[in-house]
Amino acid sequence: MGLNTQEKIADLKTRTEKVLAGGGEKAIAKLHAKGRLTARERLDLLFDKNTFVELDRFVEHRCTNFGMDKIEIPGEGVVTGYGLINGRTVFAFAQDFSVLGGSLGEMHASKIVKCMDQAVNVGAPMVALCDSGGARIQEAVDSLSGYGKIFYKNTMASGSIPQVAAIMGPSAGGAVYSPALMDFIYMVDQDYAQMFITGPQVIKATTGEEIDAQSLGGAHTHNSKSGVAHFVAKDDGECIEQIKRLLSFLPGSYREQPPRYACADPAERRDEGLNKIVPDKSSRPYDMKKLIKMVVDDGEIYESQALFAKNIITCFARMDGSTVGIIANQPSVMAGSLDINASDKASRFISFCDCFNIPIITFVDVPGYLPGTQQEFGGIIRHGAKLLYVYPEATVPKITVVIRKAYGGAYLGMCSKQGGADMVIAWPSAEIAVMGGEGAANIIFRDTSPEERQQKIDEYVQEFSTPYQAARRGFVDQIIEPMDTRPVIINALKTLASKSIQLPPKKHGNIPV
Ligand code: HXC
Repeated sequence: MGLNTQEKIADLKTRTEKVLAGGGEKAIAKLHAKGRLTARERLDLLFDKNTFVELDRFVEHRCTNFGMDKIEIPGEGVVTGYGLINGRTVFAFAQDFSVLGGSLGEMHASKIVKCMDQAVNVGAPMVALCDSGGARIQEAVDSLSGYGKIFYKNTMASGSIPQVAAIMGPSAGGAVYSPALMDFIYMVDQDYAQMFITGPQVIKATTGEEIDAQSLGGAHTHNSKSGVAHFVAKDDGECIEQIKRLLSFLPGSYREQPPRYACADPAERRDEGLNKIVPDKSSRPYDMKKLIKMVVDDGEIYESQALFAKNIITCFARMDGSTVGIIANQPSVMAGSLDINASDKASRFISFCDCFNIPIITFVDVPGYLPGTQQEFGGIIRHGAKLLYVYPEATVPKITVVIRKAYGGAYLGMCSKQGGADMVIAWPSAEIAVMGGEGAANIIFRDTSPEERQQKIDEYVQEFSTPYQAARRGFVDQIIEPMDTRPVIINALKTLASKSIQLPPKKHGNIPV
């Protein structure tokens, strides 16, 4: 006779406990010793208390190679499910390094794919807590197939739901490309978390280069050198707190508007400090971040890629309680010029904002695209073109505030009226021209005496290094006193909230890459 009902319930409990135990006490203690949390501990921190619902707890692998038929892998090395984060639905998976190194086999992948399908259908963000030795070697081509299916789903979900990855352990080979196809990558700054296509040993064998894993693919490398990662966190707990903060700015999907919060900072607040922030001498730097903080709600910004291409700032903030995406030149780094990395960084951010109905505010102080052979040979033409492409393509409200320099191609690259800005607001300090006075005189008055040339520079500066030439043509909608910036932007955002435009019919565009 089979089991009676009570025995069946007891059997369920036994099976559940086995899965919940993951790779067992020893493996978990090994993780804890390094300050690493388990997959389930991470999910506990991520979701509101008692809201996480686990899916596919009893999925099992069906590999028989290399004695795998005798190996049990509780939960298939990944925990998947959904729950609430600050009261809003989010789907997530967490790879369990305590079980066969969180390696990805066929059924591990199918759990992730199923979870992603649900997230897309429901219209909720997907969070990936990555901690995996990569393709499960014993499963050979089945694990490659698993990665392929995940990449396919990442691509299908792109622009539909926000996708966020956190690198909380090793991520080698195939394990890096799913995060790379997502919208944002967090990295824990610990010696157990790295991303690379091939590790130090393979590099040494193939190129002779010697490098340790952390220098090759640690949080610092990917946040400051490669630009692969967007955020860095000191440990697992801080990483999860940061992900929650990011999600607070985002809608569940492209079908929703971003969430709105009550705001104690008055919409009408004028800040006299803004009238003094731009130095009298046009070549002197100032901190654009400080300026942005004086404008947005409660002085709070959440910066993406803060350590990469610091000559441009990309951040989320709120204006009168609603999410905005901010792109701003940083005059205190490389004079705020646009280079390859800055163009890539800003373009991807703009594109993300447009996917998820987040209005874009652009603060401009840019002397131009960065000159030099390094930039030209590196393809500044195609990289810089991304900005010229993504701004017009974005149909969300676009507000541009010209603080100081807006020169040449970079003027057009930073969301000018011609690039589709809905509202161009200039400060009286704005200099909208083909180039600065000196540069202009060096070309068109190069044959004149030094005195005459200085006179021509002064003339050029007075006539062209202002917002009025552009205003006369209607390229600037409003010229305002700097202290009014916050109320003017909030007013424009309210007016533009119902903006609705359609791009010409097509399959999809072909962005320069
Ligand atoms: C199967 C794996 C595994 C893998 C780790 N394990 N990676 N099992 N497939 N890919 C197992 C180990 O055998 C070990 O099992 C347990 O997980 C813990 O691993 P350790 O090595 O003891 O841990 P640690 O010292 O912390 O080192 C972690 C590691 C290392 C750096 C990730 O395990 C490693 O180098 N693994 C291989 C990485 C790799 O080459 N992956 C394939 C990439 S190619 P036991 O039973 O001893 O506890 C790839 C192609 C996909 O991903 C391409 C798609 C486009």
